[in-house]
Amino acid sequence: IQSSRLEFLARKIYYYPSIGSTNDEAKKLAQNGAPHGTLVIAEEQTGGKGRLGRRWVSPPREGIWLSIILRPSLEPYEAPRITMTCAVAAAKAIRKVAGIDCWIKWPNDLLVEGKKVAGILTEMSADMDSINFVVTGIGVNVNNTDFPAEIKETATSLKLVSGKNVGRLKILTEFLSQFEVVYRYLEDGEFGKVLEEWRQLSCNLGRRVRIIGRNYELEGLALDVDDDGALLVKTDGGTVERVLSGDVSLRE
Ligand code: ATP
Ligand code: BTN
Repeated sequence: IQSSRLEFLARKIYYYPSIGSTNDEAKKLAQNGAPHGTLVIAEEQTGGKGRLGRRWVSPPREGIWLSIILRPSLEPYEAPRITMTCAVAAAKAIRKVAGIDCWIKWPNDLLVEGKKVAGILTEMSADMDSINFVVTGIGVNVNNTDFPAEIKETATSLKLVSGKNVGRLKILTEFLSQFEVVYRYLEDGEFGKVLEEWRQLSCNLGRRVRIIGRNYELEGLALDVDDDGALLVKTDGGTVERVLSGDVSLRE
């Protein structure tokens, strides 16, 4: 990685041939004082995880499994902005390097041809009014040619879509440089710029969605996202509901 071209990302890198979860490792390192921008990356995760404790399939050398430690000057409620920033950076990197139409599925997935090619898991350590640190983890299926039965229908990789091997290092370096650019907007009070790019890359806005929460379901037209990463859904009853990403899943 050409850290020289990066201002704060990946100045410190922890690389593992195999690890449980880069997010868990990054949280440990952050607790022990690892600096803003620290990159934790692995060839394989044996306990890769998604939201709500779900499993993230991370076979050796087939994808990019990484986490970044951030110490943002944001309020805790603004943390979803980091997931959005990461999604924009990753979608742009995939489009640029692999030449593939990649879309953001709210709140934390990237889709290609309607299938999941990447997922983001942002975790935070904070008290009521300030963030201690944030770990944002992303998994990108790059050269996977096969998936376990339970995700065969819903997962894809850049190789499966483009028909050729895609350089993991190329995607990685492009992602890191894109992330620096959009992250700077976020820190400089220009989140509006990130939001604008997010809207352009979203596959949900202007379409019908079904939101599945723990105790409820909601259906309607996805109108927009707001500054807090909430999805604004116009229900058939005509009311506009503001859905926070927390514990919900989105279906089309
Ligand atoms: P959805 O809304 O698609 O149900 P979600 O975003 O709510 O998913 P998450 O917990 O964010 O669910 O993602 C984890 C899920 O992603 C797993 O339950 C599994 O179905 C799927 N998955 C696991 N590994 C991969 C992978 N490498 N590529 C694509 N999908 C995967
Ligand atoms: C999801 O779709 O739920 C998010 C998946 C996030 C996977 C990445 S891979 C690197 C990092 N380490 C983990 O254990 N999870 C994230």
